[in-house]
Amino acid sequence: MTGERLEVLLSQEQLKGKIAELARAIEADYKGETVLLVAVLKGSVHFLSDLARELQLEAQLDFMQTSSYGTGKSSTGVVQIRKDLDINIENLNVIIVEDIVDTGITLSHLRELLSTRKPKSLRVVALLSKPESRKVHPSVEYIGFEIPNEFVVGYGLDYAERFRNLPYIAILREG
Ligand code: XMP
Ligand code: MG
Repeated sequence: MTGERLEVLLSQEQLKGKIAELARAIEADYKGETVLLVAVLKGSVHFLSDLARELQLEAQLDFMQTSSYGTGKSSTGVVQIRKDLDINIENLNVIIVEDIVDTGITLSHLRELLSTRKPKSLRVVALLSKPESRKVHPSVEYIGFEIPNEFVVGYGLDYAERFRNLPYIAILREG
């Protein structure tokens, strides 16, 4: 028999607790400053929304969309910008909000691109990181959870556009 199974990796409670911790760390580093949270669509949408509402700082929001994955599970290694920012980030404290850093290729490309626009500062918060699958090593200043090299879905993350609305993160097992 073939089929799909979802194995819960991170519960709603674990996500909520970690997002509060990340918010406290960010607040401590940007006391009295305004930040621009840049979410990478679509996977970061719930993380951005929960983090932004937890954060006790003045925060602006903007969105970018990249694509490198197509509809499957493995990266093509080619990063395209499908939607760019609306806001001019010159002299702003930019924080890139990522759902997951896997090979690091997407983030490395984004960091390079945004740093050419002369932000006042540029940092990254990633909810998940798969350290074992890095091919390049962009800095990630705030990391929620380091996870094993398994394909995960839920809380914004998809497999062929499915499972984005799950309130938890699960490993997708097949067969
Ligand atoms: P790279 O490899 O460039 O990948 O660091 C970053 C983007 O790849 C997607 N990604 C995943 N999506 N489950 C997903 O649903 C996963 O396990 C996974 N690993 C990587 C994701 O869009 C991320 O921003
Ligand atoms: Mg993403």
